[in-house]
Amino acid sequence: MKTAGEKFDFFEKTLAGREQRRLLRVLRPLAPASPPEVLVNGRVLVNFSSNDYLGLSRHPLLLERAAQFMDRFGAGSTGSRLVCGDYEIFEQVERKIADLKGTEAALIFNSGFQANVSMIPALSDPSAVILSDRLNHNSIVNGARLARCEVNCFRHNDLDHLAGLLHEARNRNSGHSRILIITESVFSVDGDRSDLDRLVSLSREYGAMLMVDDAHATGVLGERGMGLTCGRPVDIAMGTFSKACGGFGAYVACSRMLRDYLINCCSGFIYSTGLPPAVLGTIDAALDLIPSMDAERERLHGNADFLRKSLKEQGWSTASSTTHIVPVIVGEESKTLALSKFLENHGILAPALRPPTVEPGQARIRFSLSSSHTRAQVESLVRLLGQWRFSDDS
Ligand SMILES: Cc1ncc(COP(=O)(O)O)c(C=O)c1O
Repeated sequence: MKTAGEKFDFFEKTLAGREQRRLLRVLRPLAPASPPEVLVNGRVLVNFSSNDYLGLSRHPLLLERAAQFMDRFGAGSTGSRLVCGDYEIFEQVERKIADLKGTEAALIFNSGFQANVSMIPALSDPSAVILSDRLNHNSIVNGARLARCEVNCFRHNDLDHLAGLLHEARNRNSGHSRILIITESVFSVDGDRSDLDRLVSLSREYGAMLMVDDAHATGVLGERGMGLTCGRPVDIAMGTFSKACGGFGAYVACSRMLRDYLINCCSGFIYSTGLPPAVLGTIDAALDLIPSMDAERERLHGNADFLRKSLKEQGWSTASSTTHIVPVIVGEESKTLALSKFLENHGILAPALRPPTVEPGQARIRFSLSSSHTRAQVESLVRLLGQWRFSDDS
């Protein structure tokens, strides 16, 4: 029998192993300043790693609406929405989401992670088949695992591979209850996009359900900035309010029937307290602002195009990015850490992404741009990356 101390040995061993491989994750406290700046150890750094793509996290209207909703409804929603937490503001905000997304209905979830991890099992049964892009977010990977059905990954954005898997699933003798295709519209790590039109037509051809995670496009791309699923017949469009919307929480935009189904069958909705009213206030305000933020979106995409072009001229690989998320693939973890440190010493916050978040040998810095970055700030980042690339440390 293990002693009280021994039973925790694996904590220590795991942490020591990670430290040895220089993969130990640690929290670094910081304080927000005026976007895109943050305070780290008392120093002002320009943040190139935040998902606050429109700089809304400090917008006065979000703060004001949060205070108004909290004043009216209190600090918490006091229970699951199915018990006693269904304040009228939930349905008001859901109506706004559905109108903007162009769907019959919408349902709010407490976070994107919670939505994916609980909705995917709810949409499946043991004889379902899930076909998931290999680079889908961890919340989708875990949702698919919890579905306890057959899960096949198709090569990243390789829709011929997906078509082959669909064909195989349809022709197999064993039969299946349903096929669920899951992808992202903008991939969180590489900043590339999926071909939603072809995905829609494949899903129709094979009678499969199509679920698209629009987290990184919501606020930034698509009709009125409301995501790339807008105007497309995607069965299940989910997205988050934690990125361009500047707050927290998530949505599913879908048919009325699917909304009713999720209210009845999705554990992450049923067994969790509804979002706090203040958070709903930030969502409500962000949804009022986003449709008219074309100028901010233009600045954001202009800066992203400039960054990508400049980096390519310096010889960096930016993978297949076509959006406001621009990775710089460095490869070796130690070099990526050194580059991140170099940038920080020069006033830029851009942490390294290392395995297991990315494949071994694919360590990188994921630069995420915000409309609050000035062109001068992006130019200064480009200068520093050029300096490092042609120095002895690179
Ligand atoms: C593609 C994608 N989906 C879902 C999530 C989870 O969203 P949230 O932060 O709201 O839990 C993330 C977060 O990084 C994401 O990148």
